[in-house]
Amino acid sequence: MKKIIIAIDGFSSCGKSTMAKDLAKEIGYIYVDTGAMYRAVTLFALRNDCFINDSEVNVEKLERKMNEISITFAINKETGRPDTYLNAENVEKEIRSMDVSSHVSPIATVPFVRKAMVAQQQKMGDKKGLVMDGRDIGTTVFPSAELKIYVTASAEIRAKRRFDELKAKGITANFDDILKNVNERDYIDTHRDISPLCKAEDAILLDNSNMTIAEQKQWLLDKYREAAE
Ligand code: DC
Repeated sequence: MKKIIIAIDGFSSCGKSTMAKDLAKEIGYIYVDTGAMYRAVTLFALRNDCFINDSEVNVEKLERKMNEISITFAINKETGRPDTYLNAENVEKEIRSMDVSSHVSPIATVPFVRKAMVAQQQKMGDKKGLVMDGRDIGTTVFPSAELKIYVTASAEIRAKRRFDELKAKGITANFDDILKNVNERDYIDTHRDISPLCKAEDAILLDNSNMTIAEQKQWLLDKYREAAE
């Protein structure tokens, strides 16, 4: 089988990361969660006071500090999955907080942030053998990826999954707040000027609203086998 690039795009909380991670593990590919990179920049911006009135990004300040940000990944020996590091600190837990979730969309609209992240992501694909998930992977980062998947599910189902995920981690959250956050992020992700979330023409659509994780896993494995033959 030839080594390929697999681009998985779609809405937030639709199970993209789980699918992508499982596939990468199964076929021995590197997995890159590009949402984690935007989240790490957001955590940095929050810690360095780069928001005005807690909502608007202080673009000048963040731009001055961009060269102080280094984002890397390293496999966690316990989970077997990559953890995200911000300036050599493991921030895997911090970047999943509600605080980061509610500030990440405006950060992901900043042109110089996107430019820096996309350049780093493209470098990671030099040797292929990569599963990358995000919003603009099949359209901007790897427009010639051999396999592109566009994942979607209803907003309510995605909010319920996120709610259950937080609950399982012992984090209390309000379902309506999560649904509101999902809807807001969908709006910003699909309406921003640069690289808005949209399906690449040659991407395969997957609506997983009524699919189990095992069903999705098999579906994706079949698509990979067809593409890598
Ligand atoms: O996938 P996620 O929910 O962890 O992504 C966090 C945010 O980053 C989300 O608002 C969309 C944005 N994002 C993006 O703009 N481009 C990507 N390639 C990945 C994520």
